[in-house]
Amino acid sequence: SNSFTIAVDGPAAAGKGTISKAVAAHYGFGHLDTGLLYRAVGAKMMEGVAPVTAAQTLTPEDLAREDLRGPEVAQAASKVAVISEVRAALVDFQRAFARRAGGAVLDGRDIGTVICPYAQVKLFVTASAEVRARRRFLELTAAGKVITLAEVLADVKARDDRDMNRAEAPLKPADDAVLIDTSELSIEEALAKALAVIESRM
Ligand code: C5P
Repeated sequence: SNSFTIAVDGPAAAGKGTISKAVAAHYGFGHLDTGLLYRAVGAKMMEGVAPVTAAQTLTPEDLAREDLRGPEVAQAASKVAVISEVRAALVDFQRAFARRAGGAVLDGRDIGTVICPYAQVKLFVTASAEVRARRRFLELTAAGKVITLAEVLADVKARDDRDMNRAEAPLKPADDAVLIDTSELSIEEALAKALAVIESRM
């Protein structure tokens, strides 16, 4: 097909979402934050729904819930994300999005490795755990959440550990991914690096 797919993977709060949104806006591509799928399943699990059932029956309303951004839902998301039937139930939706006419940016953990191994561009966006925790802490605090930096760092490290060490679709760069370490970069600098890589593949 003639669709153009950009896969953006990396750990929590490395800047994937910000970069993906800006890249999609720049090219007029669609953007799918695949973490939202796992967060929606995690939120349903917290309400007592079996994760596999939740994944198989996910609706657009589930993805539009306003309570998906918090750290409790993030932990629940990374727990349901180790279940292979949960991951399998979410594959078709993500691949269909990737094939949409006009181009697509998908961000997550396994887009370049499992969901879209044929993506024209694969970025692996990373940063030190301390930098990521500080960024997420500032976001959460700005949103009115009462939480300490130490709690956010523990949350980030627990999720990194679960995401990198699971059997199915672990978080890792695809062999042909370009690494962007945003630890010392501003948003503008990180975006410029991403766009330079993409331009070289178009
Ligand atoms: O990206 P975000 O932090 O919202 O993702 C929440 C959790 O969902 C991650 O910690 C990870 O366990 C899971 N996830 C995944 N595969 C993806 C996207 C997210 O396993 N493609």
